Amino acid sequence: MISLQRIFALSLAGLILWNCESKTPPMEYMPDMADSPAREAQEADSNFPNNTSLRLPPVGAVPQGHYPYEYAGFTDVEKLPNKGLTNPYKSDLVNLKRGEDRYQTYCSPCHGVRGQGNGTVVGPAPRLNAPREDGPMATLVSTKVKGFSDGQIYHVITEGNALMKSYASQVPTEDRWKIILYVRKLQEYDNRTAGK
Ligand code: HEC
Repeated sequence: MISLQRIFALSLAGLILWNCESKTPPMEYMPDMADSPAREAQEADSNFPNNTSLRLPPVGAVPQGHYPYEYAGFTDVEKLPNKGLTNPYKSDLVNLKRGEDRYQTYCSPCHGVRGQGNGTVVGPAPRLNAPREDGPMATLVSTKVKGFSDGQIYHVITEGNALMKSYASQVPTEDRWKIILYVRKLQEYDNRTAGK
């Protein structure tokens, strides 16, 4: 015969197991803030003076993967201070390959596959063709751009310059520096082959 204790122990175990399976506990002991009322995006919220649930990021907040740019809005690239604008990347094969890939995607349509200012869109756009002392307007192998610091080229990509618009939203910071490594190679190539 099954003893009373046994029945009791079995039903207690059953009760515990049954309780374990329950997904929604019927009673919450100290729920703290587990059930705080959440707001949907765009929903009105009378707790805030502008009556909206959307919050502005705090002043000076920087989105992930972005870096604040010290010289934003500086228009005269020739007078750009070089402070804080040195290329953090080595001119090794991996970085140059990335630089080449990004250059050929984002720069070559205007600046040409070798930086000579003869990209595919230059032909139909006479303003891009306008000649200057040492080559077409969009050349990157001119004495002028060869004399630019890495920081000055970085500045042009980030902020744009005269006719050229900013490429900051298409080209992330790291790739800008790698493009510059590649532009230096194009300039070296031009030096070696000049007049040939
Ligand atoms: C849509 C065409 C176009 C694209 C794409 C473009 N540029 Fe330019 N870029 C120009 C033009 C045009 C100028 C000359 C602007 C001026 O002086 O009015 C210029 C100027 C420059 C200069 C300064 C040259 C100087 O003589 O002052 C640099 C450096 C430069 N570009 C780099 C780049 C790099 C690097 C990329 C790719 C991330 C790029 N550009 C993409 C059209 C373009």
